[in-house]
Amino acid sequence: MSWQAIDNEVKSWLKQACELILTKMDSDLQVSTKSGPNDLVTNLDKQVEQFYISQIKQKFKHSRILGEESCKEEGLLSFDGLFWVIDPIDGTMNFVKEKENFASMIAIYKQGKPYMAYIYDVMKDRLVWGGPALGAVYCNQTQLPAPKQHALKDGLVAISCPMVLANYRNVVEVIKASSGCRMVGSAGIEFINLILGKHCAYLSYLRPWDFLPGKILGETLGLSVKTIDDEKVDVVSSSVVLVATKSAHTEIIELVNR
Ligand code: IPD
Ligand code: CA
Ligand code: CA
Repeated sequence: MSWQAIDNEVKSWLKQACELILTKMDSDLQVSTKSGPNDLVTNLDKQVEQFYISQIKQKFKHSRILGEESCKEEGLLSFDGLFWVIDPIDGTMNFVKEKENFASMIAIYKQGKPYMAYIYDVMKDRLVWGGPALGAVYCNQTQLPAPKQHALKDGLVAISCPMVLANYRNVVEVIKASSGCRMVGSAGIEFINLILGKHCAYLSYLRPWDFLPGKILGETLGLSVKTIDDEKVDVVSSSVVLVATKSAHTEIIELVNR
């Protein structure tokens, strides 16, 4: 199976998921909580995930799936077929409250290696996709250059709100050393901001479905994706993930490990 064949399928699923979301988001949204009042899930998170899972099972039989809402299969690095990681709606709080700044995301591993990834900013109709299978990343039809290597003093940083409130690992110093701090509330959109060269760093505690699509795309374009301790990110675990340009990465690691 070529990457183009997989790509055609995935893009058609994303388009159908987008239509489902746009048709139902204003009239048929049921919201419930998961671990607490700020951890939301909707009927559309679940429906979109089930739609992706049914398509994968029909079209790519030798597959395993890790889906945020329902499907927690293991073996991402050892499985010899396609391993799919799904975050049906990333930024569900934004989806519910803002009706924008959320993304539908899929990461694909093949024989334990990163293969392709997709982050779809639904409301902007902006799909960032690509990966090692083609050695490139695109935004819709346009191939993206490697993001400019902004130093920390010349770039905006995105840091999750709880980390800023707690001044976790000295992040206030990181913000002071930068052009400013932005908080979007969707890991997928934060990764897009780095990939497009709008921001120079993003720091947040993330689960595998939050960071794997962006990690595959960001690393294809030369961004650094490491833990806050400057270690390799364990792709099957949750971690505090630092995504950054090479120069901002070095400066931030120095500040947060003082
Ligand atoms: C969340 C978003 C958010 C990040 C959270 C994630 P979800 O994903 O990516 O930006 O700070 O840690 O859980 O739950 O909306 O898919
Ligand atoms: Ca997520
Ligand atoms: Ca989600």
